[in-house]
Amino acid sequence: MRIWVLTFTMCCVFLAVRAVFAQSPGSDSGLIANPVFIKNCAKCHGKTAEGHRFGGPSLISQKTAAASADDLRDIIANGKGHMPKFIGKLTSEEIDTLVKQDTDFFTLVFTLIVFGGSS
Ligand code: HEC
Repeated sequence: MRIWVLTFTMCCVFLAVRAVFAQSPGSDSGLIANPVFIKNCAKCHGKTAEGHRFGGPSLISQKTAAASADDLRDIIANGKGHMPKFIGKLTSEEIDTLVKQDTDFFTLVFTLIVFGGSS
């Protein structure tokens, strides 16, 4: 009996999540759909931002999600270790968008993994 209650609850949550995403068309693909990311970042951080064997770390890790927007902006603008600097290559608006999408992205991917779909 308990399994049905659980299944029912999961379905409700799933539908609620889909409804939320359906209300914000365009914003649900975020970072990995951003042409700036695909062009400048995907080769090191991977097309799905999960990191790349030879390059950058995952950008959807808890660590990145926990980093402050200022820190992320600083890393993207000024580089760090093997991460190249993008100041001069990207406008500050483009960097701000990447920072925002990166912090939103962890939440989104987590939701998708747990609830198994996007709209
Ligand atoms: C040449 C490969 C390369 C490219 C291109 C690249 N990165 Fe990185 N990135 C790295 C490496 C390597 C690190 C790890 C630096 C370190 O910690 O020493 C990193 C680190 C980062 C971090 C910090 C992650 C953390 O958890 O500390 C962020 C955020 C980031 N990159 C975003 C971007 C964005 C956004 C772009 C595109 C504008 C980009 N990177 C392009 C290689 C790259």
